[in-house]
Amino acid sequence: MVPLGGGTRGLLLYLFKKGTRGETKRGKQQTWKRWWLSWTLPLPSLFIIKTGQRRRIRFSFLSRTLVLCVALFPYPQDTPKTFTFTSLFPTTCINSFMHCLQLPFPLLFEPSPDNATMSEHENGPLEHPPWPDMKLPERLLTGAIRELHSKIESQWDPLRQSACQTAAGRALWKHAVNDPLADILAGETYLRRLHEKMKNDQINNAREVSGVILAVRTLWFDSKIEAAVSSFEDGEAQVVLLGAGMDTRAYRLSFLKDSHIFEVDFDDVLQVKAALIDAAEKDKHSQVKAKSLTRLAADIREEDWLEKLKQSGYNSERSTVWVLEGILYYLPPSHAMEVLKIIADKCTYTKTVLLADFMNKPSTTLSNSTFQFYSDWPDRLLPSLGFSDVKLSQIGDPDANFGLMNDDPLNLFNKLRSLPRSLQIHPEDGTPCRRLYLVQASGSPIQVLS
Ligand SMILES: C[S@@+](CC[C@H](N)C(=O)[O-])C[C@H]1O[C@@H](n2cnc3c(N)ncnc32)[C@H](O)[C@@H]1O
Repeated sequence: MVPLGGGTRGLLLYLFKKGTRGETKRGKQQTWKRWWLSWTLPLPSLFIIKTGQRRRIRFSFLSRTLVLCVALFPYPQDTPKTFTFTSLFPTTCINSFMHCLQLPFPLLFEPSPDNATMSEHENGPLEHPPWPDMKLPERLLTGAIRELHSKIESQWDPLRQSACQTAAGRALWKHAVNDPLADILAGETYLRRLHEKMKNDQINNAREVSGVILAVRTLWFDSKIEAAVSSFEDGEAQVVLLGAGMDTRAYRLSFLKDSHIFEVDFDDVLQVKAALIDAAEKDKHSQVKAKSLTRLAADIREEDWLEKLKQSGYNSERSTVWVLEGILYYLPPSHAMEVLKIIADKCTYTKTVLLADFMNKPSTTLSNSTFQFYSDWPDRLLPSLGFSDVKLSQIGDPDANFGLMNDDPLNLFNKLRSLPRSLQIHPEDGTPCRRLYLVQASGSPIQVLS
């Protein structure tokens, strides 16, 4: 059916009314009254109309059918469903007329959000379409890529597989995060799984849509890496990604053109990642944008990882950004602390920036996942290790929002931000305060000496 605008419907209604003109004044009034009733009260008007003259019965019936057809079916696609259905009832018929005349809705009726996307409802200014049915990119369906992903699913433990989950988040939040390789690195299973969750969130009017934390976190790290790299005066910087997983910053961030990137992860993760990118269609997205990219297979729980990093070209005297995104809480506490100490120690040699996300205790203890390390106060912990400048953000803060959060105080993240960080249980609803801290810490030899 061709969608007709409100103006067209208004014209049709006018022409329809014109059709009553041959009648007497009283006849006209009665016809108009019936027409009005038939429009506003379709069911009761059946009875009223039946008591009229046969000619008018037909006319009124026709009028009702015509008006309802015009009013109900050819609504433009952006008309909320609730509006269409409730326009059958007298309390909202005024809205119908206002719509016909292209005037704003009066206060009698507030359009329901059921036709709005969750992000419009929850996340304010950044508009994105409702999650459509997932259409897998063709390149994901090729034999080589399917084979690599079936290996991931059958042979990798949940720790390694977490890399694909993260990539799925970036792939499905593509209206916010530009990561063209993310879908191929995530694979069909993880994409479908997250897509299903997002759809359910939307259907259930959830206040937060799954994956939003990943999107915000990725954008936060991107922006802080850019700021750190551009703050180094000595030209070529180093960016070390510990637990790099399916991170594609070396491919997607052009501000890294003068930086040397080191990706550290388990051997099998790095091998499959390289194979997936190789198997992907060769285009500009699979070209490294960074000055160099070195992949280092290492387990950062072992003592030798720093030595291995040095052997692979890492220079202890060069300004370095250490990126620990989605990794610290997977480590046993003693190992996480050891890694943080090793990085803090670098502040005595060169300009050092650490970017890391920390879970608080309720986040790790209440999850089914294998989270281990937590810190409730990373902004106290890191200075104690040797960092001179520490800034902590929470999801939803001005620098960790990116237009993906709205101001609704009932939004989970806003609720948490409004509570003192010392609280682990929400005083109103008794739910645990599960927080994710985004932390930037830095130090340099000058600051360490002074
Ligand atoms: C949740 S993923 C995060 C990946 C990436 N940083 C991102 O944000 O997309 C965690 C990654 O840490 C890696 N990882 C976990 N423990 C590790 C360890 N002891 N040594 C090296 N990598 C590890 C896993 O293999 C996985 O790729």
